[in-house]
Formats: sequence, C-alpha cells, structure tokens
Amino acid sequence: MGTEQTFAILKPGVLQRRLAGEILTRLEKKGFNIIALKLASLSREIVEEHYAEHKGKDFYEPLLKYMMSSPVILMILERENAIKALRKLAGPTAVDDADPGTIRGDFGVITRRNLIHASDSPESARREMKLFFSDDEIHPFLDGNARWY
Ligand code: CMP
Repeated sequence: MGTEQTFAILKPGVLQRRLAGEILTRLEKKGFNIIALKLASLSREIVEEHYAEHKGKDFYEPLLKYMMSSPVILMILERENAIKALRKLAGPTAVDDADPGTIRGDFGVITRRNLIHASDSPESARREMKLFFSDDEIHPFLDGNARWY
C-alpha cells in the first residue's frame, strides 16, 4: 500500500473543549502529514451533502445541528495506508466501544457528539476532500522523517 490521502473533520466539541492541539499532536506523531487544514463554520447545505447517506436515520437531524453549532477543523492527511490508520486512531463510532488510546475512546462521551469524522473508503475520501477543499488549498510535502519510521 503506497501513500494515501484521507479527509477528517475535528467536530465542534474539539475547539470548544480545547482539544485541537492534543489531537493534532497525535496525528503528527503517528506519521500523518497535514497537507490541508482550515477552520470553517459549516452551512446546512454542505453538512447535508457530506452526511447524505445518513438522511432519514434518527440521529440525522441532531447530527446536522451539532455540526453547525460551532466551528470545525477540516483536514486532509497523507500517509501510508492513511484511511485505515486514521480510522484506527479515531476508534469506532460508538464511544462506549472505543478503546482507551483512541481519540473517541479517550475523549468521546456521547456518540452523537463524537469528536472526529474520518473517511471510510478511498471513494469517500475523494468525494469529501473535493467537497471541502479546492486544489490550491492542498499542499503535499516530502516527509523528511519517513526513513526513520
Ligand atoms: P461520523 O464518523 O462523523 O459519521 C456519521 C456520524 O453520525 C458519526 O460520526 C456520529 O457522530 C453519528 N452517528 C453515527 N451512528 C450513530 C448512532 N448510532 N447514534 C448516534 N449518532 C451516530
């Protein structure tokens, strides 16, 4: 598996709970290159498009409200096997199933307000990156530490 890109959202609880630095540190330490990063206050339109697959589920409306409630951090991350590696670092969706050591396991309290979204497949990653970032906002770089991993 070669270098791969994935997309992540640090949800409203992250900035509110002052967890941004800690989570970014975990990502960097695990070898992810942060190749795009910005804050955004999400519109209903873009959140609906992002979470279209969940439309009609009981948690859909609360999820939209949560995602629009306060600014989020949007990111594109690059690494070997990035999609799987990030989902593993994030932990499972249900916070009570998430082991200590994962982001959801260490900081999540309520599943509906879990702290991170991570793309679940190469197709989702491509779609989500395109939805939130333009090409000129993405800055891949050579990881000088890669030979030490
Ligand atoms: P995320 O990875 O962003 O993708 C969809 C989100 O919906 C998920 O994280 C949770 O925040 C929320 N979600 C998914 N499944 C459930 C569920 N069973 N109950 C409540 N919220 C859920």
